[in-house]
Amino acid sequence: MSNLTFGIIKPDAVAKGHTGKIIDKILASGFQIRGMKLIHQSKKQSEGFYAVHAERPFFGELTEFMSSGACVVLALEKENAVKAWRDLMGATNPAEADEGTLRKEFASSIGENAVHGSDSDENAAIEISYFFSKLELV
Ligand code: RTP
Ligand code: MG
Repeated sequence: MSNLTFGIIKPDAVAKGHTGKIIDKILASGFQIRGMKLIHQSKKQSEGFYAVHAERPFFGELTEFMSSGACVVLALEKENAVKAWRDLMGATNPAEADEGTLRKEFASSIGENAVHGSDSDENAAIEISYFFSKLELV
């Protein structure tokens, strides 16, 4: 089990001004922030990031959305980080997300669902290195 995972505060949540509240909850939940920056991805960069979903019907919509505005990318540390971060995010569809999760509080739909989290240790390492250089991680 790795102690690192990768997260994104997605463009919907940044545009609505929820960044600070989400960072607060991340820290209050015991994560250490090892990397953090505000970026605005191009369509090509978001297609590269979500390449595993290239065959899914929502791929165009997803990459359009992820490149529609600024987002915050995060390298997060905690024991059993991948699961801990997905637990804090809640279900993909906010209608199914538990009370107290970020998606319950901040997401408006299954597409615009406020946050992203890696789904495995292997993908966490790939995703962190997609957005951060070694110098940008503390
Ligand atoms: P994420 O990768 O963003 O952390 O979300 P996830 O693991 O909970 O969900 P995943 O199945 O990996 O889907 C990636 C993102 O695609 C969008 N999506 N839209 N319209 C739809 O039916 C649909 N399904 C998924 C969501 O933004 C989801 O987070
Ligand atoms: Mg996923």
